[in-house]
Amino acid sequence: VPAASAAALGGAGLWWAGADLNTAGKVRFVNRLAIPPLAPSRRDGAGGRVFDLRASGGEHRFRAGRPTPTWGINGPYLAPTLRAARGETVTVRFRNDLPESTTLHWHGMHVPARMDGGPHQPVRPGATWSPTWTVDQPAATLWYHPHPHGRTALHVYRGLAGLFILDDPHPHGLPDRYGIDDIPVIVRDLNLTDHNELDERDREQGGVGIVGDLVTVNGTPAPYLPVTTQRVRLRLLNGSNARIYRFGFGSGRTFALVGTDGGLLAAPYETGHVQLSPGERAEIVVALRPGERDVLRSLPPETGLNLWDRRWTGGDDTLDVMELRAAPRLARSSPLPARLAEAPRLVTDPATPPVRRFELSGFTINGRSMDMNRVDFAVPQGGTEVWEVTAIDDAPHNFHVHDAQFQVVSVGGRLPPPELRGWKDTVHTPPGVPVRIALRFRGEPDPATPYMFHCHILNHEDQGLMGQFVVTAPGRSANRPPATHHEH
Ligand code: C2O
Ligand code: CU
Repeated sequence: VPAASAAALGGAGLWWAGADLNTAGKVRFVNRLAIPPLAPSRRDGAGGRVFDLRASGGEHRFRAGRPTPTWGINGPYLAPTLRAARGETVTVRFRNDLPESTTLHWHGMHVPARMDGGPHQPVRPGATWSPTWTVDQPAATLWYHPHPHGRTALHVYRGLAGLFILDDPHPHGLPDRYGIDDIPVIVRDLNLTDHNELDERDREQGGVGIVGDLVTVNGTPAPYLPVTTQRVRLRLLNGSNARIYRFGFGSGRTFALVGTDGGLLAAPYETGHVQLSPGERAEIVVALRPGERDVLRSLPPETGLNLWDRRWTGGDDTLDVMELRAAPRLARSSPLPARLAEAPRLVTDPATPPVRRFELSGFTINGRSMDMNRVDFAVPQGGTEVWEVTAIDDAPHNFHVHDAQFQVVSVGGRLPPPELRGWKDTVHTPPGVPVRIALRFRGEPDPATPYMFHCHILNHEDQGLMGQFVVTAPGRSANRPPATHHEH
């Protein structure tokens, strides 16, 4: 019997069923934002942290009428938040009770390739998979989702996605009370059929996949977040299949960007907007006055994107996503720290030539589409490499690399803007603009098990815009000249 999720959604029983689901200025925010529960964990004999996860079908209420059949982990829709600290050994016992094979991938995590949960680690229906690894990276907002070959878009769309929060032993002075002043914000769009089923049809042109009319946060449509403290930290995840958001606020207020995909910035960066393509995260801190209300909004892009992109970023239709409602009295928050994290640059010279080039076009990288039996290249363990990624068609793309957090070296030959100066594992690649990234591969050599790199527009990934690399024993010079994979 699928668990009903109305209670998890705040139990208000109010579901916005109007046509203007997210039209700016027209949304009635009637549903209290659901907060994904923190997954309980237990200790194994060696002091490691063990999570039990189970994927299954369920039902979730997106609007009035029938509940929607969905998939979820430890619940009917979405997944609990996993949380672990640097230095801890984590084991996840994952049982698949879905009717088909799936996988669980730890997006942004430095893990041995066999534990990565990519397409080479399928978990059959009824089977259990128990990856284990030691967390060895800074505090960050990571996430997890399935990665089955050719089926990732559907499995994520049906509901399999959750946050994986990593902590540092030393506090950073940011709001950190989960669900109170430290809020997960998983933004996903979807379409419902007349019968309230998830509409899995690709209505778009150009193969971008599902772009939804209804934008939800943590599965809640038309959500409001009660704010009880002077400052609130939002951990934004673009968990959508294809849509790109450029987040800002209805009032035009600024906020502090404090973290990107793989960790905290060196210092807070005050800005009015942050753009996230699918898979990207941002941590922001917003200060509200008592009684104030403001709307988290997805705005049209400012510059640098062509018309095609505008459609996915909101373009003509600015989208209202969530209302923040400050209580008449707010509990004190400590001031924002001036410094957050050490961020040594992997590569200091933006003119450093790339050792590999990747041209994204249609469903291909350098003219080739994903082949499970082809490893595209090997990287030496411990080496730092500069890669150059360019989207050469007009479609929206981004670029995600497994295992390694990277740094953006340059965008179109220039130093990256402040919002791209922190650790990243996914970066938007505007059409025709070469994006250079620096990566260091710290993984155990495992020439038999590849890691993936791909566009995180999930239909692009499923259709072949993905490749594989392995980490091999150190020794070869890392930044050797390109044996490029150009085939033109
Ligand atoms: Cu978020 Cu290869 O995936
Ligand atoms: Cu793409």
